Amino acid sequence: MTSTDADAVLAKFRDYVTGPTRYANLLTVFELGIVAQLKATGPDGMTATQLAAVTGVSAHHVEQLLELPVKDGFIARAPRTGAYTLDGIARLTDEELARVMPWLHMVKEVCLRQLYHLTESVREGRIVGLEQLYGFTGNFYQASKAHPELHAAWEPVMHAVTGYIDPWFYSRLDLPAGARVIDIAGNTAQGAVLAQKYHGEKGIHVTCFDLPEKEDEALDNIAGAGVGDSCRFIGGDALAEIPKGFDVAMIKHFLDMWDHDNALRILRNTYEALPAGGRLIAMHLTYPEDGNAATADFFPAYFFGCTMAQGGPQKLSTWAAWIEEAGFKITGTVEQDMTTAPADTIPAHSIVYATKV
Ligand SMILES: C[S@@+](CC[C@H](N)C(=O)[O-])C[C@H]1O[C@@H](n2cnc3c(N)ncnc32)[C@H](O)[C@@H]1O
Repeated sequence: MTSTDADAVLAKFRDYVTGPTRYANLLTVFELGIVAQLKATGPDGMTATQLAAVTGVSAHHVEQLLELPVKDGFIARAPRTGAYTLDGIARLTDEELARVMPWLHMVKEVCLRQLYHLTESVREGRIVGLEQLYGFTGNFYQASKAHPELHAAWEPVMHAVTGYIDPWFYSRLDLPAGARVIDIAGNTAQGAVLAQKYHGEKGIHVTCFDLPEKEDEALDNIAGAGVGDSCRFIGGDALAEIPKGFDVAMIKHFLDMWDHDNALRILRNTYEALPAGGRLIAMHLTYPEDGNAATADFFPAYFFGCTMAQGGPQKLSTWAAWIEEAGFKITGTVEQDMTTAPADTIPAHSIVYATKV
């Protein structure tokens, strides 16, 4: 190894070590209201003293905390007056900012403290962080029911991911006219509502199937979207049984929560539930063949330390192999082109199309 090679490795170590402090510093700048103040103030900006007066912390704290966002180009500091203005953050659209903020908040509530226990969670196969922090034994989705603050932090990210990837997913969905569709683990029916948005003219009916505790929120969303005649909710456990009476099953962001054996149980239950000729469309977190995504940066630690203590993204070929193992015939596959994804994108996806022969 040359010294240049070693330097590159050392620089990577530095990136990893400073990750949590960089994250906390930026989040705090937002949470103190500094970004909001600078946004409201406009081009003249505000000095540390002025920011201190409106945020209720000392000018020293403001100055220290703004060193990093100034260094990284989020915020600018005028050399002469010392006034701060938004720099990089001002170049983001409201939509772009609204997309990244839920991730910042979710990492605080759902990841940061829980990941202190990642090693134990992996060793013991359960979310030790939830036990230590909340005295809760079980997975994140069960804990979210008892601790609404967890759900409140997680849901906007799930909606942002669904909102970002579902247009891609639904534009690749070839639903037959009049199809009866079940969205397995459809959460609070956002997928069902979007299926109607993209394919409603075909006269489809979509059932959101998820844990019973999702019913109220799902029905509210269905009613709110005005699709009560063509969408409904059924509560149940996909590991136990999946309801029959559907031509097409969608599974999105669900198999990746489980290890191979549980994913197979869900897929076999889906196979059982569908009639011969019934179709499965499965979209999941994927490690792209060319490695071009942040999937590995986030999801293994997130699944193991924060949500399930199992599962994780797979290569597209692995998803297809598991679906075949459950008895389906693969009819097509597609991987997301990450070169066209926004720069802040963390997950990469793929879709497997299959039929029950
Ligand atoms: C990551 S979310 C995916 C939501 C949705 N499919 C989407 O793409 O936006 C996982 C969902 O699985 C549901 N879930 C967890 N365990 C389940 C089970 N045993 N049976 C049915 N749904 C389950 C959760 O309630 C949650 O809504």
